[in-house]
Amino acid sequence: MLYNFDEIIDRHHTGSLKWHHTDDTIALWVADMDFRAAQPILNTIERVLHHGVLGYTKPSAALYQAIINWHGSRYGLALDKQHILFSHGVIPSLALMLRVFTEAGEAILINDPIYTPFMTKVLDNGRKLVTSALKEVEGKYHLDLVDIEAKIIEHEVKLFLLCNPHNPGGRVWTADELEALFSICKKHDVAIVSDEIHQDLTLSGHEFIPFLRVAKGYEHKVVSITSMTKSFNVAGIKGSMIFAKDQGLIKKIGQQQRLSDEHDLNLFAYEVMASAYEQGGEWLAQALTYIEANIELTLHFLAQHLPKIKVMRPEASYLIWLDCSAYAQEDQRLYDQLRKAKVELSAGIQYGNEGHLKMRLNVACPTEVLMEGLNRIHTALNNDDIKQ
Ligand SMILES: Cc1ncc(COP(=O)(O)O)c(C=O)c1O
Repeated sequence: MLYNFDEIIDRHHTGSLKWHHTDDTIALWVADMDFRAAQPILNTIERVLHHGVLGYTKPSAALYQAIINWHGSRYGLALDKQHILFSHGVIPSLALMLRVFTEAGEAILINDPIYTPFMTKVLDNGRKLVTSALKEVEGKYHLDLVDIEAKIIEHEVKLFLLCNPHNPGGRVWTADELEALFSICKKHDVAIVSDEIHQDLTLSGHEFIPFLRVAKGYEHKVVSITSMTKSFNVAGIKGSMIFAKDQGLIKKIGQQQRLSDEHDLNLFAYEVMASAYEQGGEWLAQALTYIEANIELTLHFLAQHLPKIKVMRPEASYLIWLDCSAYAQEDQRLYDQLRKAKVELSAGIQYGNEGHLKMRLNVACPTEVLMEGLNRIHTALNNDDIKQ
């Protein structure tokens, strides 16, 4: 079936986090899409509702098989049922992994910039936060491997939290980059947890490689976490998967989950997950085509109207990282000026020091809405007030 991503669906007064402003502000910030979900997913929810009994539910054999097939056929990741654990979300799983791999006070290394909860969860859980700035070379972020190894040694780092594909920079780390990172971590006995929630949003010309594929012989120290929520725009459903391949590690994760009985998902999460992986491919392919067109349009608009913004072309996701330093001197003023022009982006500074004077733009919306948003960004940044 052909999906209509141009349809404008009003999300005000639905409890939407993204469209929380009651005025006519255009929401181009938090990472969800303004598109209706795939028809097979909506049909599945209707089928469950029609049955009418919403009792305790177990993951079905079909769900395990759907997960195994999806990750095997798309990413060459060989999984068995026993390698798959469920949890309420990628960030809850990430927090759980801090407890699996580290003790209070131990050091955890992350990149800067990074999706904010990577920082807050480390600190909330009483671990020591160590950061390694990504190096920007020709409009693209790179891991600073020398700095990573030096920080591991200096702080006796126990765990590296990787974001692949990277949010907010949009990098899909290559096999060479992952292998180089892996060999440093292995050399110093550092565990790796890889947040792969944006995996299915990898854009044409790039290949997503699950970390478990490069971690051969070191599976007792490696976990991948992913979800159907970002890929299929069902974030409100909640639910994620933890992949681990070592028996001892799987047991340890299970024990940690049982401490707070965190392992069961709700009925809708299991059902949506299965239908997404069994029948959602067609919707995803069409959504990605639409997103790629919106990305091209945005890059063209910015080059024409705001040429001093340094734009990082994403290799995955619908999030575009914008360096606005030529147009502003203060983070708060930059954000406020955009808000005054009735457009909301995510302030870069919340992703770490490297986010200074940057903004993250979400283009997963109907093109008409995006165009209006871009015009408002143009108005905001051309205003002389922002530079004072
Ligand atoms: C890298 C990354 N990890 C995790 C999440 C959130 O995952 P969850 O809602 O499953 O906790 C997001 C959401 O934007 C994200 O970008």
